[in-house]
Amino acid sequence: MAASLGLGRVSRAQLRQLWWMYPANVVLWLSLFGVYSLWTIVFFHSDQFHQYLSPFYSPQVAVGRTPVSPALFIFFIPLGFRATCYYYRKAYYRSFFADPPGCAKGEPSQLATLSPTGRGRGYRGESKLPFVLNNLHRFFMYLAVGFVVVLWIDTFRAFSYHGHLGFGLGTAIMLVNIVFLSGYTFGCHSLRHLVGGGVDCFSCVLAGAQRHQLWKGTSWLNARHSIFAWLSLFSLIIIDVYIRLLQYGVIHDPHLGF
Ligand code: FES
Repeated sequence: MAASLGLGRVSRAQLRQLWWMYPANVVLWLSLFGVYSLWTIVFFHSDQFHQYLSPFYSPQVAVGRTPVSPALFIFFIPLGFRATCYYYRKAYYRSFFADPPGCAKGEPSQLATLSPTGRGRGYRGESKLPFVLNNLHRFFMYLAVGFVVVLWIDTFRAFSYHGHLGFGLGTAIMLVNIVFLSGYTFGCHSLRHLVGGGVDCFSCVLAGAQRHQLWKGTSWLNARHSIFAWLSLFSLIIIDVYIRLLQYGVIHDPHLGF
């Protein structure tokens, strides 16, 4: 494993000492994503350049003239979907609450009374506020699937260039982003349960063969859920930054028009 990480002659014992890298990275990248998202949706009212629309502002909501960004009216859906996601729960419980910070790592005693999930705070699992809200995940999932459909439509629109078929670097980035987002959304544990995870006997239920195929597909994505979670997060930032730079004329979009 050490060799596969390119760490050279690192012993297993030394590798075990690096357990803190996972929570530290989660804190770093989730915090950066949070700060960037707030910055982009609070301080800007749109992020669009011709055929490209940033996923932060899609679907475009008709809220009339408003002093706040229209993105704020829809942002609670992807935010709620990710915040209640089973993978992210593990990630932020470990990293932000140190509860526990890693496998076979005890909860730091000084944090036990401070962390919202710490033993000293009478943590009641997900049966009390605020963590009971995590049970809303399946409802956010329904909305998130609708989001993915809208973002695929945006991506197909990005194949136009001045009324003709076209393909630019922005189209490629939007395509990569929606593939990662789809991989993340369709690998959701709740969706997997819905399509077949809750079925004991596929040959005993209506459309059992089709549900079995769907279940196999979601299971494949589910096994890679954490990878898609991070890839989709980074690609969201990349496409938003790219479109904003185009909007301000900082860069040009290399493209092919047909
Ligand atoms: S469990 Fe992660 S998106 Fe549903």
